[in-house]
Amino acid sequence: MRQNRFLLAVILILGSFAFFKWFLPLIGQPPLPMTLIRMFMFFAISGILLYLTATEESTKSLVAPIKEVFGNPAKKTVRMAIIAILTVGTWVYAYGELRPSFEPPVELRSIHPAPPSSLGIYSKNFDMITLDNPLRADKENYAQYVKEGGEVYYKNCFFCHGDKLDGKGHFYNAFDPLPANFQDVGTIAQLQESFLFWRITTGGPGLPKEATPWKSSMPVWEHYISEEETWKVILFLYDYTGHKPRPRAGAAEAKH
Ligand code: HEC
Repeated sequence: MRQNRFLLAVILILGSFAFFKWFLPLIGQPPLPMTLIRMFMFFAISGILLYLTATEESTKSLVAPIKEVFGNPAKKTVRMAIIAILTVGTWVYAYGELRPSFEPPVELRSIHPAPPSSLGIYSKNFDMITLDNPLRADKENYAQYVKEGGEVYYKNCFFCHGDKLDGKGHFYNAFDPLPANFQDVGTIAQLQESFLFWRITTGGPGLPKEATPWKSSMPVWEHYISEEETWKVILFLYDYTGHKPRPRAGAAEAKH
């Protein structure tokens, strides 16, 4: 029991770290930057310590193992081992923090990384090489699709991408990187519809490693809109801006 409080504290602290670092991305949340994790850990540890020191008895049992190791002459070996681990740990940490980094600066990240060759979403597998907007060929219903795509857009996307599709939605300046500006010739005008399909359905978390360090707030729309709605909103983006999607023949250059 005496050991348990201490052990409990260690388990709770490691558990909170694992929760912020690995569990949240696992359930589709964008990964948290380390600075945020540090801040959250500060609150988590404060809370855990408050909880475990609520009564005098629990405080005693929490510090008992520490007192035991540092106060009992018979525990010299354990004590020395712990001091050695802490010292070496500090060296390694300080070295890691101070070591010069040769990684390229953040601005050089790839904004339009190469898409994967196949895409597993909506419980299906899409071949990115041959994927195209299935609704575009249906000229008869085109206007209707664009209208419905607009509804999807103004329900879900305009908060960030703006009511004029210029990337200046209500919340746009809260985000870094900024929401894409679809009017700009540097975005959808040079992309294929399959690329948009990939980016919309998988969002920021779907970006490959080469696009990091990356904290895009672009949500994973696969969870909120259907496959057909995604193709409709894509039709709307091109129709509204007057841009033409990059034809599929240029697939090899989709990366840039
Ligand atoms: C919470 C804010 C937010 C919302 C809501 C949002 N986006 Fe985004 N979106 C972003 C940000 C930020 C980026 C730029 C970073 C990136 O590429 O991931 C982006 C990028 C994109 C891109 C990639 C453009 C390019 O040039 O590569 C597309 C396409 C896109 N969004 C479509 C949509 C659509 C369609 C919706 C609605 C269904 C939507 N977004 C809703 C924040 C948002």
